[in-house]
Amino acid sequence: MNKILKFPLGFAWGASTSSYQVEGGIENCDWSKDFPAGIACDHYCRYEEDFDLLKKLNQNAYRFSIEWSRIEPEEGKFDEKEIEHYRKIILALRKRGVEPFVGLWHWTSPLWLKNKGGWESKEVAHYFSRYTEKIVSSLKDNVKFWITINEPEIYATHSYIMGIWPPKKKNFLSFFLVINNLIRTHKESYKVIKRIQPTAQVGIATNNTYYEASNDPISCLLKKIIESLDHFYILDRIKNYQEFIGLNYYFHNRIKLFKFNQNENKLVSDMGWEIYPEGIYYVLKKLKKYQKPIYITENGVADREDKFREDFIRDHLFWVHKAIEDKVDIRGYFYWSLMDNLEWHRGFEPEFGLINIDYNTLKRKPRPSAFYYARICQKNQLILDSEF
Ligand code: GCO
Repeated sequence: MNKILKFPLGFAWGASTSSYQVEGGIENCDWSKDFPAGIACDHYCRYEEDFDLLKKLNQNAYRFSIEWSRIEPEEGKFDEKEIEHYRKIILALRKRGVEPFVGLWHWTSPLWLKNKGGWESKEVAHYFSRYTEKIVSSLKDNVKFWITINEPEIYATHSYIMGIWPPKKKNFLSFFLVINNLIRTHKESYKVIKRIQPTAQVGIATNNTYYEASNDPISCLLKKIIESLDHFYILDRIKNYQEFIGLNYYFHNRIKLFKFNQNENKLVSDMGWEIYPEGIYYVLKKLKKYQKPIYITENGVADREDKFREDFIRDHLFWVHKAIEDKVDIRGYFYWSLMDNLEWHRGFEPEFGLINIDYNTLKRKPRPSAFYYARICQKNQLILDSEF
């Protein structure tokens, strides 16, 4: 007998993208030189076609981000044409009955900010608030959900400790400064949004890993410390500055003394990341204590051949549903990503998309798993066959 798992009424079903990864033609940001995206998916010009597909795939929500370097190419000078562009994007979604979840920052910043010290600058919260003010006052009529900042911890780690993303620093002091500035910036930006649009729903998207420790006191202690930093540090600090929590879930990590990421599971994505669906359940349970609605703002797999994606979606949604049964207030799920795109320093090779992009012709082709996900979105339910 098949088992049917129903999701709450009004559940948001969608997919995510970010400006630099899909738009193309962004030449004026801090990533442009070291990691050129070129024309990327040309989503900037082909968004109508992409939204037709999204609609055909029965999605009712779409998460994307606005490119700061387009809006404010020079300090304090706003480009009305670009604001108009994003207005068109939002209206194109609305026309199709799709709820926009609008990100203000997904890791790329205008060059002028870089020249002023980037996210280490004392002024960054001020600059970002000015940009927030411009965007929100221009677009508020058609946007309800705002996501200020994407994964502050992942950005700060890669850019200021590992040194692999711009500005490629390896400096703990800078790291702490940047984390602090990102949190401060979120709070300031939150206040600006609420002042202009009191009914807005505002959140941050954080990347939370599920940790397990082997059974010895040191590993258990390490797990506690790492977990509280990874899960709670940022959310604790912005507790009174959010209407919802955005969760990006990808990772499971085993801690064995001082060895991390002991991957015992042989199932890995094209990124080499372990596939571990039940982890999302444990993370969601931990976030319950904040008593806020949760949107899963990202969850996905790099899988060019589309070998795992269907099972990946099914299994993660099974565990999401279990968390809902346990009274975690989950309101939506966004698959990462709507389409293949630039996976940061890894280039265009990892393919996360429900929709495959042929980068020679820019032709879009939904993968079989996209139609599987579409059936879930359409019926607001997951059907598990008897073997599950
Ligand atoms: C993230 C990123 C995405 C990545 C995705 C896969 O927030 O982690 O938003 O930009 O492409 O996570 O690594």
